[in-house]
Amino acid sequence: MSGDLGMNRRILLFPLPYQGHINPMLELASLLHSRGFSITIFHTQFNSIDSTKHPSYEFISIIDGNTSNHFNLNDIPSRIVAHNNNCEQPFHDSLRKYLSENKGVTCLVADLHWYKIHAVAKRLGVVSLVLRTGSAASLRWFTSFPVLRAKGYYPLPESEKDELVTELPPYRVKDLIRMDKSRIEDFATLVELDVEAAKSSSGIIINTFTAIERKEMDKLHQELCVPIFSIGPLHKFTCQFQSSLLPQDRSCLAWLDTQAPDSVLYVSFGSLALLNYEEFVETAWGLANSWQPFLWVVRPDLVCGTKNVNMPDGFDEEVKGRGMVISWAPQLEVLAHDAVGGFWTHNGWNSTLEGISEGVPMICRPFFADQMGNARYVTHVWKVGMELEGKLERRIIEKTVRSLMREKEGDEMRERMRMLKKNASDCTMADGSSYLAINKLVDHILSS
Ligand code: UDX
Repeated sequence: MSGDLGMNRRILLFPLPYQGHINPMLELASLLHSRGFSITIFHTQFNSIDSTKHPSYEFISIIDGNTSNHFNLNDIPSRIVAHNNNCEQPFHDSLRKYLSENKGVTCLVADLHWYKIHAVAKRLGVVSLVLRTGSAASLRWFTSFPVLRAKGYYPLPESEKDELVTELPPYRVKDLIRMDKSRIEDFATLVELDVEAAKSSSGIIINTFTAIERKEMDKLHQELCVPIFSIGPLHKFTCQFQSSLLPQDRSCLAWLDTQAPDSVLYVSFGSLALLNYEEFVETAWGLANSWQPFLWVVRPDLVCGTKNVNMPDGFDEEVKGRGMVISWAPQLEVLAHDAVGGFWTHNGWNSTLEGISEGVPMICRPFFADQMGNARYVTHVWKVGMELEGKLERRIIEKTVRSLMREKEGDEMRERMRMLKKNASDCTMADGSSYLAINKLVDHILSS
């Protein structure tokens, strides 16, 4: 089976309302649409998606009260719980109404963290699938959490932070997802609900590919006992992409055109990570002093406590012509540009996969959640990036940038990255692992 068999069948999708979750869900929407399915996207008022950019899809807004002001930015578990609580009833009402007016709904695909949304779908008789927007390895952290907790890893033992976690290699203690001591109980409940949603779903879709996570996928198959489809890198299956919540500054592409091949370091810490002011200043001068051309994404809210950060005094004059600062980039196009030869990243999973897909070696500076674990794979398993650890300090930044961009260590990583890029491309070909998994997914959806 597979091919364009989804005609007149509709798939409902519901992303968690954050950039790193919206992008892969909309990429999946585009992929399923290309296989003939009609698409309906549910979205919250908080970080709502601009439906005018996606005229082929139907959009349904869930009235969640746009509760962003009540969120503590640093407390992601409470945000996820709040989103679930706020959306459960409105989603129930919307879905019930929708089902009474529409035929041909095949299934719902919702983010792993929408545990109450999966439960509502089930109550209303709709088959639901989970999209995991992070890596397979990070999903194994979820399934392993009860064991890790029982073995005393939480709260994380500071004195053993460099020790290997024998229950979850190759993670070291410091690569595990961190949480405040006072929040462990809440986190444990959230993890349990997420894993339960995954186990009781009709299938799990993961934005990864087998060449980089074969063992992790095999273990997940054993642990979760539901069909699992690794169909990434999802962005490689879509040609046009319009899911940015922030306006992208495309002028950087013309600037990149003026730079030598492989010369520019692209620096971005994703959509949520925050620096303190001292770290920001050290980063600025570290980049300036490296004398390496750079393109740096400084989101207006990148620095804690500010809504619109100014560059340090004298910085703009110092880097004129050799460095560019923008507030949000067309990241996929930047990474694919010939001039870009390195990526200083926070290792959000999307950024990590996007960097791999374009063969750009990395400087890894993870901040929170799954980012430390992703960085561990980049530096230790695939060996295509170097870690920037400890206090952010301009001399260390300068040295690390030079090492990635101009020295043997960086060249070796660039070489290994070429292989990974090829793997990422091969898996999307007609006989590639992700392409075949998509065919299986389509068959699975049609048979459910
Ligand atoms: C965070 C986590 O780190 C991630 O692993 C988790 O699953 C979701 O929350 P985020 O900070 O958004 O995500 O990072 P990432 O997963 O890398 O996603 C960022 C997305 O924004 C990427 O798709 C990237 O292409 C895009 N982006 C980033 C831009 O379009 N422009 C930019 O300037 C920066």
